[in-house]
Amino acid sequence: MMTARVPGPDSGENRVLPMPDLTYTPEVAAETAHLYDRVKHVVPPVEWPFHAPYVAAINRLKKERDAVILAHNYQTPEIYNCVADVVGDSLQLAKLAARSTARIIVQGGVHFMAETSKLLNPDKMVLIPDLKAGCSLASSITGADIRRLREAYPGVPVVAYVNTSAEVKAEVDICCTSANAVQVVESLGVDRVLFVPDQYLAKYVASKTKVQIISWHGACEVHERFTGEELRRYREADPSIRIIAHPECPPDVIAEADFTGSTAGMIDYATSQKGGKVLLVTECSMADNVAASARDVEFVRPCNLCPHMKRITLPKILDSLLTLQHRVEIPEELAVRARRSVERMINLQN
Ligand code: 13P
Ligand code: SF4
Repeated sequence: MMTARVPGPDSGENRVLPMPDLTYTPEVAAETAHLYDRVKHVVPPVEWPFHAPYVAAINRLKKERDAVILAHNYQTPEIYNCVADVVGDSLQLAKLAARSTARIIVQGGVHFMAETSKLLNPDKMVLIPDLKAGCSLASSITGADIRRLREAYPGVPVVAYVNTSAEVKAEVDICCTSANAVQVVESLGVDRVLFVPDQYLAKYVASKTKVQIISWHGACEVHERFTGEELRRYREADPSIRIIAHPECPPDVIAEADFTGSTAGMIDYATSQKGGKVLLVTECSMADNVAASARDVEFVRPCNLCPHMKRITLPKILDSLLTLQHRVEIPEELAVRARRSVERMINLQN
């Protein structure tokens, strides 16, 4: 049973809790001072009194509810640095979700990430603070599309980027993330694979392997906006700049990059650049988050925001913990098949 550890909505531990006082008092200031220290380079002092009461309330409620917050690298600095228990790229969050011992998981990220957490934690309550936090890649393909692709390419295995719905994951052979896509494709030991839904990640993988890649036409609405031309202008202005790109970017952008990798790979590379100037070609909250741990690196941030990631805010996380909404549920028959695709990927790494 998927909900074995989650009692019904009226039971004591799942009751809706009242809104706490959100006044910025001297006590709240003192309680959150060490957290403000982590974000003071990106959150002006005038803004902190608005965040601090939420930060204090969320951190108290997490203990009361036995909840953890998993935050993707694109979450805003006050979420990433002040209330998250675990931060990372999609692969890291999936692995850490699988190890969580908390009763409740709150996903600081988009819906497909919350679904992955639920697949790996069927007995836990998984909450997404805003149900509309979607993803242009996940919405570009359906389970029916995968079935049609299988008819058109009989016998060709299907690899799905984790940026897909559980319905799609249930139809494919294995999942991958931007951190392990080449490894996953090569693990199948075949000459051709269908790779969905990101056309640009597919091109990137094709450039790194001899396996023939048949791709879908999906794209990330954030990364497809970058152009090689814009990066060349940055490099002309400062030839010493290091350009780091996410593989969801178009090929002309990747061609200009000194390093291409997952969001976690980008962070590792950026923090290893002692004293340099780094251009992060990705969602722009990440530069704010990385800057906290790489104070000697100067970040240049062409600011493309992911509107879906930005739907997750401190007030919505607080509301989620108070009301235990919105619960992510996946029909068992679908979950069994989708989980297999995610676990096959995770087991490959171990
Ligand atoms: P990562 O797995 O690299 O964190 O990417 C997830 C994502 O949605 C990037 O847009
Ligand atoms: Fe999806 Fe792109 Fe947003 Fe990542 S940045 S969640 S791929 S729309």
